[in-house]
Formats: sequence, structure tokens, C-alpha cells
Amino acid sequence: MSEGRNSLFNSFLRKTNEMPLVDSWLDRRGDWLMDNSKIREYLRPMIQEKKQKIKILSIGSGKGHEIDWLDSVLEGADITGLDPNDFWTKPVQKRLETSGKFGGNTAEYLPPEVRAEDLTGIGDESMDAIVMFFVLHHMDENKHGKTMQEMNRVLRKGGLAFISEDIVENQQERGLTVKQDRLLNAEVSSDNPHNYRSQNEWKEFFERYGFRVKDYNEVQPDKVRNGFFVLEKIEDLEEQKSTI
Ligand SMILES: C[S@@+](CC[C@H](N)C(=O)[O-])C[C@H]1O[C@@H](n2cnc3c(N)ncnc32)[C@H](O)[C@@H]1O
Repeated sequence: MSEGRNSLFNSFLRKTNEMPLVDSWLDRRGDWLMDNSKIREYLRPMIQEKKQKIKILSIGSGKGHEIDWLDSVLEGADITGLDPNDFWTKPVQKRLETSGKFGGNTAEYLPPEVRAEDLTGIGDESMDAIVMFFVLHHMDENKHGKTMQEMNRVLRKGGLAFISEDIVENQQERGLTVKQDRLLNAEVSSDNPHNYRSQNEWKEFFERYGFRVKDYNEVQPDKVRNGFFVLEKIEDLEEQKSTI
């Protein structure tokens, strides 16, 4: 575990994040995310078709609630989560360990060394689906390409990636989105990345890495546009294969 995660401030944050109020707020966000991403609509038929459990990777899963939400809506899924800057909170861990996982699912949270742009340890084409909600725009732009290459590497052909991102079509929307994002994520530093794109720019970006946009859903819960992309991996980027 990194030094940062052990600091006094982080242990205070950990306690705050384990409070029932924060926990239940995050749970309500889960319903909204599961509905808008169309995860159930696409993954339940995949489970039935495969006639065995499917493997899902959740990138940037925060305090683990994302793993919890996936577990509660998908019977027949093994879920792996990761987030280098966050941690699996005790209430979530307890729910997944003791409350009887939905349909015998398994759930795990990887160590902080594993991150979007470096999925070392996760096998080539080992995943049926990947979920990455509101993560890319928080990362340096120079890591976006590597992240997509890694997603292409670990996802099987025909597998689905569910990516949600803030959509920004002009400078006015950019200003509003940055403001809202800072507020929502309690950002203290103004150095945090806010790398948004327009809907078309995201689409072209995903297509460069062997994906096609299978579905798109946009909602505007406040002044900010949230775009939910369902991507299908249609080709391998051969040179990216690892030796695992
Ligand atoms: C806005 S939060 C979204 C959390 C969760 N996916 C959700 O939608 O509720 C963005 C998350 O991305 C994570 N993140 C930032 N850089 C990352 C990276 N390089 N790899 C994986 N996750 C990252 C952050 O730690 C943070 O938890």
C-alpha cells in the first residue's frame, strides 16, 4: 500500500467515507449508473448466451461501490475492481463477503499498482466486459491512448466496454463542466486534469483503438452532459499482446 494511502488525512477520509450517509448516497448513484449505462440490457443476455459466468473489469471503481452495484444487478458475473487512488471501504467489503453474493458471483479489488494505463497481471483477452465510469477525463491526456490499448488487450474480441464520460461541445459547456466536476469530486487543487471531449471526438478516439460504438445514451441530470458509450471490441491491436 502506498505511503499516501496510509497518511493521517487518508485515514480520516476513510472513516468519513465509511459513514452510512456517504455509503447510501453512493448506493443511490449506483441505480442511476446501472440504468443509464445499459449494463443489464447488454450483459444479462451475454451471461445467458455464454451459459457460464462472465468476467467483468471495473476500472476506477472508487470505494468499491461499483463492484457492489455490478454484483447486485448481474447474476453470473466475476467482478474485478481497481483504483490506484482509492480504496475498498469496509462496508462494501463486508457486504460482498458476508451478505451472500448475488448468484454466487465473486468480487475482488486489485492492489494500487494496477491502473487503467497499466493492467499488468490481467491476461490478454481474459475479460468479457469492462466498465469505466467517469475516469478518463480525470487522467492525464498522454495516458488515454495507453489506457485504450490496455483495454483492447485484456478484452476478448466481441467483448463490451461501458464507458461514461462528460461531454463537452463548446467552451461554455467546458466551463460549466469543470465547475461541476470540481464541486462533485471535492477537488482542492486546480491542477486536477479535466480532459473532456465532444461526443464525436470520443467516438473517433475509441475507434482508433479497435472499438466500435454499439450504443450511445446521453443524459443531463444538471447542466452537464453525461454520455454513456457501449463499445464493442472489433479488432485486436496485435503489437499490444503481453507475455502473461
Ligand atoms: C469521478 S471518480 C469515478 C468513480 C466511479 N467510477 C463512479 O463513477 O462513481 C474517478 C475515479 O477514477 C480514478 N482514477 C484516476 N486515475 C486512474 C487511473 N490511472 N487508473 C484507474 N483509476 C483512476 C480515481 O481514483 C477516481 O476514483
